[in-house]
Amino acid sequence: MAVLASGRGSNLQALMDAIAEGTLEADIVGVFSDRSKAVALQRARDAGIPARSLAPKAFASRAEFDAALFAAADEARPDLIVCAGYMRLIDAAVVDARPGRIINIHPSLLPEFKGLHTHQQALDAAATEHGASVHFVTADLDGGPVIAQARVPVLPGDDADTLAARVLEREHPLLVETVRWLAAGRIALAEDGIQVDGVAS
Ligand code: GRF
Repeated sequence: MAVLASGRGSNLQALMDAIAEGTLEADIVGVFSDRSKAVALQRARDAGIPARSLAPKAFASRAEFDAALFAAADEARPDLIVCAGYMRLIDAAVVDARPGRIINIHPSLLPEFKGLHTHQQALDAAATEHGASVHFVTADLDGGPVIAQARVPVLPGDDADTLAARVLEREHPLLVETVRWLAAGRIALAEDGIQVDGVAS
């Protein structure tokens, strides 16, 4: 897989750790970022994984930037592209050209709380449950078919930071498990949703 990340890279680290421990049969062929200072890039380099950033400002449009970033990722010949804390919208043409090959981890129980500041959104809505979702990326922002979710309670006294920390702890095993299923060929994107072990769900 190739991993796209914009920041801290703790989800990337969870994937790297699972591979190193032998619990995830997969390889990370490259890490790509829109931010040269992303900690994720350093985590990759420390593990001997090629890491590269491209600056959006160097491109005339989002479409051109996305085409270049994904072309760079494609050079590493990944079967799967994992957006793990990748904070940019992806151009529809780029997504449509790779059906079922891009997944994203989003910190909410989709379809609730799309977009940014999801933990604050959950608090503002007085949600009693919150969590994270891994979904196929389609041209619909945070709207592609959900593959798997992890739930946590919202506790009295929570703020966005405490809630984010509780969710993040569950994101790491959720992402690893989802990639494990994809790597084993147990899940695929179908025209009308998701196929699990060859059965439409
Ligand atoms: C995670 O909460 C992820 O769900 C969201 O951005 C955060 C990235 O964290 N899209 P990290 O960079 O993987 O530590």
